[in-house]
Amino acid sequence: MCGIIGVTGDPEALGILLEGLHRLEYRGYDSAGVALVVAGDEIWRKRRAGGTKSLPELVAAVGDAPRGVACGIGHNWWATHGGPTERNAHPHTDASGKLALVHNGIIDNYRELAATLPQGGAELTSDTDSEVLAHYVAGKMATGLGLADAVRSALRDVHGKFSIGVVHVDEPELIVGARRGSPLICGLNDTTAFLASDIPAIHGKADEFFVIDDERVVELTPGAVRITTLLGDEVEPERREVTWNLASAEKGGYPDFMLKEIHEQPDAVRDTLLGRIDNGVVALDSTELTEEDLRRIDKIFVVGCGTSFNAGLVGELAIEHWAKVPVKSEVASEFRYRDPVLTPTSLVVAISQSGESLDTMEAVTFAKRQSAKVLTVCNVVDSSMARDSDAVIYTHAGPEICVASTKTHVAQIAALNLLALQLAQARGTLYPEEAAHLVRDLQLVPDKIAAAMAQSGHVKAVAEKYRDIRDVFFIGRQVGRALAQEGALKLKELSYVRAEAYPAGELKHGPIALIEEGTLVVAIATKSRLLDKIISNIQEVKARGASILAIATDDGDGNVDPRIADLADDVFSVPYAGHELFTPMVDVVPLQLFAYYLAKARGNDVDKPRNLAKTVTVE
Ligand code: F6R
Repeated sequence: MCGIIGVTGDPEALGILLEGLHRLEYRGYDSAGVALVVAGDEIWRKRRAGGTKSLPELVAAVGDAPRGVACGIGHNWWATHGGPTERNAHPHTDASGKLALVHNGIIDNYRELAATLPQGGAELTSDTDSEVLAHYVAGKMATGLGLADAVRSALRDVHGKFSIGVVHVDEPELIVGARRGSPLICGLNDTTAFLASDIPAIHGKADEFFVIDDERVVELTPGAVRITTLLGDEVEPERREVTWNLASAEKGGYPDFMLKEIHEQPDAVRDTLLGRIDNGVVALDSTELTEEDLRRIDKIFVVGCGTSFNAGLVGELAIEHWAKVPVKSEVASEFRYRDPVLTPTSLVVAISQSGESLDTMEAVTFAKRQSAKVLTVCNVVDSSMARDSDAVIYTHAGPEICVASTKTHVAQIAALNLLALQLAQARGTLYPEEAAHLVRDLQLVPDKIAAAMAQSGHVKAVAEKYRDIRDVFFIGRQVGRALAQEGALKLKELSYVRAEAYPAGELKHGPIALIEEGTLVVAIATKSRLLDKIISNIQEVKARGASILAIATDDGDGNVDPRIADLADDVFSVPYAGHELFTPMVDVVPLQLFAYYLAKARGNDVDKPRNLAKTVTVE
């Protein structure tokens, strides 16, 4: 989970690399580095490590770069092998200093490869698996191979996941890239070629974009692209359509991507519903599962990680409620290790913003191997997961740059509700009028989300009041429990405050022992069948000294249930979403804003929280 960028054919290559790294910072920021190919000489290289300071320090340090060099590669790192220090930062060079390599992923057999290097790898200068690969490719070149052939030959010996970019001073216009399991794309204009982990890095520079599939090697020279298999057989480059513009991936006047993306949530849900509801009937465009497939499904597993998993919890409740199929949701990193019973009539619903999270991708591969059908709910078109699944529902949320997910989470819940309703239609578990009524309410959700945003100022004031809080509990029931999990995740990852989520009824079985004077309990107390019970749970913690922050439903006149108003120290009121199963899309808004403003009050970088990366492509 790193960012890779490469450019060849532009004398301003260094500037393009640095701008690309800036746009790719969401993929990792433990270090940043660039390498320029100085023909016939050595690689010129600069690296800096130090969390979010890495890239600014790199930019400040490149004043001595050679002018007019037209080819180079760059890298943002999310540290895996070795600590985030300068000696471990990419690009890595070979012993001669003539070859440079950037890598995203993990080389599983790096120790075996290192053992084949001169003196068992004594010349290695870092603790990384990636440097081993740089030396290993150089070793292949020493046998007389050109750079591209050397990369192909080396990668045939590599076990693990990678996307790489490699350059060599003896072939100063060539960048060789390759991919297995980690994202990589390339782009062209008339005179220049680009390599990148993701399209935003080269958007506005390249005129056309190309997919690089797994097990492919790409050779980029100014204005030209050639793609081959690892054996060297040529493959026709496949164009990739890009329908969004760069402005949608920039801050657009907001202080951070996170706030911008929170405000984009009404559109994210609207666009996810667009074209998928026809006359009160759900018609998912992108699922290739037939009505017959949907009827035959007898068991569903919903898998994902982090925020995507939390969306899956809502999906589980919606599918069971409307389509009456047994569903189990599970974190993807656990799923494939516990022998889940899968058959051709099982459906695995994989949820992933990026479509590249390794844990979820491995769950997809496992499910397919076990002959289950796989449907991916995903935001990135043509991502690895989308390509590997039987069917895809794209969330049309637009590019999400902030490391913490917001708009893609609500779009995922919208997509899962659509799926639940389509399953119910296909299986005859909902009357058509009932389904039509529900989809009408679903279409009103974007306006409710916008209305929930209106109390941003109040949320900010409450968050500032709790600036120094140490422990927070989030409690809820059913969808409120999924929401509690998401609220706690947002708070801990952004503000670094210890936050735990519990099903509210479970507190009394142990965790209530932790409640003491001043502990903050955030209670999801919006309109639901279980509201009376959650009010009792609030009373239990209030009686033990907790401060209560309640999320409660506005009755339309600006009032909330008087029992909640009496018990709570602070209330964030939200409009009712029309159905309990739609409420997480609206109710999550004040929780996101609370985490955002609390983190800001503590001086944290909300777009790039410590220790995280946007796309986690390691186990
Ligand atoms: C938290 C967050 C992460 C991701 C998780 C899965 O705000 O963003 O928990 O949700 O890493 O990522 P995707 O959805 O890309 O598979």
